[in-house]
Amino acid sequence: MCGIVAAAAGKNIVPVLVEGLKKLEYRGYDSAGLAVIAGNGIERVRSVGRVAELEAASADTQAATGIAHTRWATHGVPCERNAHPHVSGSIAVVHNGIIENYESLRNELTAQGYVFTSDTDTESIAHLVQATLKTEPDLLKAVQIACQRLVGAFAIAVIDHNQPGKVIVAREGSPLLLGVSDSGNYAASDASALLQVTRNMVYLENGDIAELTAAKVRITRLDGTPVQRPVHVSQLSAAAVELGNYQHYMQKEIFEQPEALANTLEIVGGSKTIQPGIFGAEAGNLLADVDAILILACGTSSHSGFTARYWLERIAGVPCNVEIASEYRYRTSVPNPRQLIVAISQSGETADTLAALRHAKSLGQTKTLAICNVPESAIVRECALRFITRAGPEIGVASTKAFTTQLAALFLLTLVAAKVKGRLSEEQEATYIHQLRHLPVAVNKVLELEDEIKAWAQRFADKHHALFLGRGRHYPIAMEGALKLKEISYIHAEAYPAGELKHGPLALVDADMPVISIAPNDQLLDKLKSNLKEVQARGGELYVFADADSEIPESDGVHILRLPEHYGELSPILHVIPLQLLSYHVALVKGTDVDKPRNLAKSVTVE
Ligand code: AGP
Repeated sequence: MCGIVAAAAGKNIVPVLVEGLKKLEYRGYDSAGLAVIAGNGIERVRSVGRVAELEAASADTQAATGIAHTRWATHGVPCERNAHPHVSGSIAVVHNGIIENYESLRNELTAQGYVFTSDTDTESIAHLVQATLKTEPDLLKAVQIACQRLVGAFAIAVIDHNQPGKVIVAREGSPLLLGVSDSGNYAASDASALLQVTRNMVYLENGDIAELTAAKVRITRLDGTPVQRPVHVSQLSAAAVELGNYQHYMQKEIFEQPEALANTLEIVGGSKTIQPGIFGAEAGNLLADVDAILILACGTSSHSGFTARYWLERIAGVPCNVEIASEYRYRTSVPNPRQLIVAISQSGETADTLAALRHAKSLGQTKTLAICNVPESAIVRECALRFITRAGPEIGVASTKAFTTQLAALFLLTLVAAKVKGRLSEEQEATYIHQLRHLPVAVNKVLELEDEIKAWAQRFADKHHALFLGRGRHYPIAMEGALKLKEISYIHAEAYPAGELKHGPLALVDADMPVISIAPNDQLLDKLKSNLKEVQARGGELYVFADADSEIPESDGVHILRLPEHYGELSPILHVIPLQLLSYHVALVKGTDVDKPRNLAKSVTVE
């Protein structure tokens, strides 16, 4: 998704803008640009491709006030003409989000004589602000008035070369925060872009607009009413967003999973029991009245929900449904006010998940829980209960450590729900907690399988399709494996519950179709083995991730990799790790852009 950085300081801010954009690269983008207030007007530099190219192109640019942007194309193809900032006369604008009424604005402004040079919705904001300045010369007020005409979701930053030293920023629906310091004031789409200059962050609310100068920050609502927003000292570690010794963020994040899980589970402490309070002070009362659970999420986050459904129904005995957020938000569903709505999101800003949560609440379902990796995010702020996964910043577009920490959080939810419903004995609780605590060690051992997986990856490089099979709580893990492979290696992959094979997908199986199977030693193993025989009989090449004690022999066309430990209910958390490694190494062999796969964005803040 698009990223914004803006700065007003008593020094040259171009390096800050460029460094900030680099930190936002993980969000996904196809072009980048910046505009500054130079001596004789707006100086703009734009480039298609990486921020490094923008950095080189802007090496001679210097200014104390400016705005910058990484663009993820929505309206108009990726090209320099469509890259931000967009300029109209004295002003320049960068924008994240979608302006739904841009066509009518465009017609109106064209009729007034403004000439559009791009295909973007953003350019209409630039001309609208310029037109408003004719009757309202103060930039803050002009942007306030212009914003009131915009329909859709946006975060914007605006500069005017007739009013140097000033940046106006506003948000309605898309993320934007301020970084405040004695030596200058800044704005960005997320805190990681501003840690280079300050830890003091101010999170703007929807409908806020702010004027930044080097010396001060003034925040009002879009109607001009002044507001105060608290300053948060960001706990984000700058090192957490550095690549260190790793080749890619995805690789770093896969290997950070033991630590991410340990941090996430720290909340349980040394105790042998678990308290509902880990989900918020009200959790005990609220959960006691819950008779069902509805999980809302997108992509990888939905796969953690699909996995948890098996746990919640089996261990806690609570009916659980999982819905893809983009479907649920537009579906006519039957509301249940006693149902707990669980919104799962790494970023906490995913537009569809947020809209689905709001839709669920609008139907009178107010018992809500956010499972999220970003404490200050919109989804967390809008839920009654919360559990913050402590995975640390996830930069790679392919979600890895966010997924396993979500699973850990959902298992804790299962235990709390089971306890509240009187379905968990003290002994069972202690055993599960012991297993959870051992997870980081168990994950570490699985990571040691990397070399074997690397060797397997070589055999996938010339494949165009792959099939992932799993059963029970490992079927969603097969779905996650298929998603990982397709998003970073561009190999078409599909996941099926293994029992479904002979109802259609078996027709696809031949020697060119690798079939990846998750085969833990559980009550479905014998059934799964029969499914694997069906593949073998059709000449399919099988890659099986088994447990140490799964009795599946290696043979011609059947490659087995055994996970060191058999992990019972929590086995999905271990079994997804080799699938993450497999996709990563296949992508390396294929030479794709692992951290920024084509067409994808890290944080999907538009519908
Ligand atoms: C995962 O690898 C994806 N890139 C994507 O499916 C992601 O999980 C999805 O967009 C949801 O994001 P969220 O967790 O931030 O809401």
